[in-house]
Amino acid sequence: MSKENEILDKLKRIIDPDLGKDIVTLGFIQDMKISDDGDVSFTCELTTPACPVKEVFKKQCEEATMELDWVKTVEVNLSAQEKKPQDDKPNGLSQVQAIIAVGSCKGGVGKSTVATNLAFTLQKQGAKIGIFDADIFGPSLPTMVDAPFEGLFQDQGTGMISPVDHPTGMKLMSFAYANPSKGPAIMRGPMVTNAIKQLLTGTAWGELDYLIIDMPPGTGDIQLTLSQIIPITASVMVTTPQKISFIDVEKGIQMFDKMNVPVVAVVENMSYFKPDDHDTKYYIFGKGAKRKIVEQFGIEEAFEIPIDPAITQCGDSGFPIVTQENDEHPIVEVYNAIGESIVRSVSRIIHGESTVPTVEFVAGQGIHYVFQDSDKFVNPAVLRRGCRCAHCINEFTGVKVLKDDSVPDDLIPTSITVMGNYAVNIQWSDGHDSIIPYKQFDSV
Ligand SMILES: Nc1ncnc2c1ncn2[C@@H]1O[C@H](COP(=O)(O)OP(=O)(O)OP(=O)(O)O)[C@@H](O)[C@H]1O
Ligand SMILES: [Mg+2]
Repeated sequence: MSKENEILDKLKRIIDPDLGKDIVTLGFIQDMKISDDGDVSFTCELTTPACPVKEVFKKQCEEATMELDWVKTVEVNLSAQEKKPQDDKPNGLSQVQAIIAVGSCKGGVGKSTVATNLAFTLQKQGAKIGIFDADIFGPSLPTMVDAPFEGLFQDQGTGMISPVDHPTGMKLMSFAYANPSKGPAIMRGPMVTNAIKQLLTGTAWGELDYLIIDMPPGTGDIQLTLSQIIPITASVMVTTPQKISFIDVEKGIQMFDKMNVPVVAVVENMSYFKPDDHDTKYYIFGKGAKRKIVEQFGIEEAFEIPIDPAITQCGDSGFPIVTQENDEHPIVEVYNAIGESIVRSVSRIIHGESTVPTVEFVAGQGIHYVFQDSDKFVNPAVLRRGCRCAHCINEFTGVKVLKDDSVPDDLIPTSITVMGNYAVNIQWSDGHDSIIPYKQFDSV
C-alpha cells in the first residue's frame, strides 16, 4: 500500500455526521504531500466554511494520521468547496449558495429580530451573509442593523443595484433603502410581488453562503410568489407561545410545504422571562409549545428565546444582541445552537442524499412504511386515531378528544404527500387531514 493510501485508510474512519459518509469517500481530502522524512500535509475541503465541526475534523485528521509510526509531522489545512454558479437562480442571486426564509404567519412575533441575529450568528461561524428585508409595508432592516447609507448605487451598464455594505462585510437590502423618504405607496398584490422580485433579483448580492430573507408576515400570495421567483433552500418559522400563534405555526408549516420548502427550525420567541436576580424561568404564556411542535410536526429543531429588554434595546439601536454579548450569554448560546443546526440541515439539503422514508398505501395491506431498518405495514385507522392535530387533541391539556370508535376500521388514505423531511400529510376517507411525523410510524 502506498503511503498516501495508508493515510487515506486511516482517515476513512472519520465520518461527516451530516452527510453520513466518511471524509475520504466524500472527496474532502486533497493536495496530499508526503516528504521522505515523514512530514505530511493535506487539505480537508469542507462543504461550507461555516461547518460546525471543522475543528473536530481537523483534530481527528491529525490524530488518525499520527497513528502511522513513519509520520513525523502532520499539517491539516481547512478549506471550503469552491462556489459553483447556481444556474437555477436569477441574475443577482447567481452566486448565492443557499436562501433561508425566516417566516411567521403573524406580525410582531420577532421575525426581523430573529432574522438579523441569525444572520450575524452565521457570519460569526464563518459564512458570507446577506439579508433581504422583504417587508414592503414595514421594512425594519435599517433600524435593526446599523450600516452607513448614502443612497443606492445602480450600475448603468448592468442595471444592477449594489447592496448596502455593513462594516463586517454583510450585504443588506430593504425597501427602506429603495424609498427612504416616502412611505410605501398603496399597491395591489401583483405590484407588491413585482417590486419584491425587482429588488431581490436586481441586487448584485455577489458571493454569499446564505441569503437570509426576512419574510413579510402572512401566508398569502406574496409568500407563495416569492417561492416561485427564487429557489428557497430552507425556512425558519418564528412563533410566540400563545395559542393563536401555535395555530399560526401550523398554517406556516403548511404554507412552506405548499412552496416545497422544508422548515428546518422553529424558534419560539418571547418564550419565557427570567429576572436578572434569580434563576426561575417564568413561562408567562404557558409552556409546552416546543414539545407540541416536536410531537405534532416531527420537527426536532425547536428553540426557545426568552423575553429580554436587551433584545429590544439592541434591535432598536441597530446592533443585534449577538454582536453585543459574548458566547457565554444565554441568548447568544441559543442563537449559536440555531445557527449550527441550520448549517447542518442546509448542508444535508444541498449535498446530502435523500433520507426521507417512503410511505405509500397498499390496498388490502395498509400503509407501507420503509426507512433504513424499518419495513412495515401500518393499519390506517390506528394511525388516524393517533392524529395529534388541534381537533383531535386538546392543545392545552394534551388530552385526546378524538373518540377512537368515531374512526371507521375500514378507513383509508385518499392522498399522502411528503412534508419537508419530517412528516407526511395524509388525507383520509373520512374527510380529515393529518400531519403524521415519521417518528409516529416507529411508535405504532
Ligand atoms: N425575545 C424578545 N424579547 C424582547 N423583545 C423582543 C424579542 N423579540 C423581539 N422583540 C421586540 O419585539 C418587537 C417586534 O419584533 P420584530 O420587529 O422582530 O417582529 P416582526 O415579526 O419582524 O414584526 P413585523 O411583523 O412587524 O415585521 C421589536 O421591538 C423587537 O425588538
Ligand atoms: Mg419584521
